[in-house]
Amino acid sequence: MKNRLQKVVITGGAGFIGSNLISHLYENGTDEILIIDDFSTGSRKNIDHFNNLKIIDSRIEDIADLESKLEGYDFCFHLAAGVGVKYIMDNVSKALNTNIQATHKIFNACSQMNVPILITSTSEVYGVSNDPVWTEESKSLLGPPTKLRWSYATSKLIDEFMALAEFNDGNLNPIIVRLFNIIGSNQSSEFGMVVPKFVEAALENRDIIIHGSGDQTRSFTWVGDVVNYFRELALLKPYGEIFNIGQPEEVSIKNLAELVIKKSNSSSKIKFISHEEEYGKAFEDPMRRTPGIDKIVSLTGIRPSKKLEEMIEEIIEFKKQH
Ligand SMILES: NC(=O)c1ccc[n+]([C@@H]2O[C@H](COP(=O)([O-])OP(=O)(O)OC[C@H]3O[C@@H](n4cnc5c(N)ncnc54)[C@H](O)[C@@H]3O)[C@@H](O)[C@H]2O)c1
Repeated sequence: MKNRLQKVVITGGAGFIGSNLISHLYENGTDEILIIDDFSTGSRKNIDHFNNLKIIDSRIEDIADLESKLEGYDFCFHLAAGVGVKYIMDNVSKALNTNIQATHKIFNACSQMNVPILITSTSEVYGVSNDPVWTEESKSLLGPPTKLRWSYATSKLIDEFMALAEFNDGNLNPIIVRLFNIIGSNQSSEFGMVVPKFVEAALENRDIIIHGSGDQTRSFTWVGDVVNYFRELALLKPYGEIFNIGQPEEVSIKNLAELVIKKSNSSSKIKFISHEEEYGKAFEDPMRRTPGIDKIVSLTGIRPSKKLEEMIEEIIEFKKQH
């Protein structure tokens, strides 16, 4: 039976998705939100406008007695992670440690305090799988550890295994979501996210830089849809389950750049550089990434609400004003 999420913890609440989740929860009747964030990639300006937030400004790993901080909360959304291709490649060890150690620590605390948890995994866990559409049962095809970009996917898979093992042992109530390229107005370009980088370049009439041939395709999902799914899942309680969250509409990175240029009336030119030039030899990238979303749509009855063009228009408008 559905009820309200009254008191909620969000790790990584000062980040892009976390700050959108805070708005969504307040709009839907949540009374109290505690965020845990070290502001490594998150920012004060994402959360300044919320005046009744409780904030623990720390790495999760460094919090003594984390259990007691969770006392009385109904649910935990665990979003804190080292994230973003550029950030990962620049901070491989730090990101790995956060994604494994911080997650392990929050699992222990949630388990002891009996707080259910939603963890944010990633489409990266499918690696370079050749399945035309990736469903939750698709096999992962990760590259070797010498290609360091796979460290992110591996750490998130370990999180998934830890969550399901604890669930299996009756210790934890986890819900796992695998997110596929989420975009929205307040996403930062600083850590290598493709859409804000292209939009900012286009608005300043700078060259738009594509890594690789530009033929690789991605599918982009609106952050408002994502946080809507998060809340629904927390209320529906499908513990021990994995869900893709994404939008099946595919676009090549070259067509994305052209769309951004058109929608922003920009005179930017498209330039191509190899992945190796940008990230060195330790990099490889999947050619396609298309989510199968039947599972989450049939559970929640909700479909992604926005087409790519609308998302790009909304992001351009926001960036023009900020
Ligand atoms: N944005 C996407 O397209 C996408 C895709 C797949 C998965 N995800 C996952 O969704 C989650 C949120 O991503 P986002 O895009 O909002 O990224 P983000 O970088 O904006 O948010 C992450 C937040 O976690 C905080 N943080 C990092 N390490 C921490 C630590 N050790 N202790 C406390 N706080 C810490 C950061 O300061 C930041 O506020 C991440 O787990 C990410 O892996 C995002």
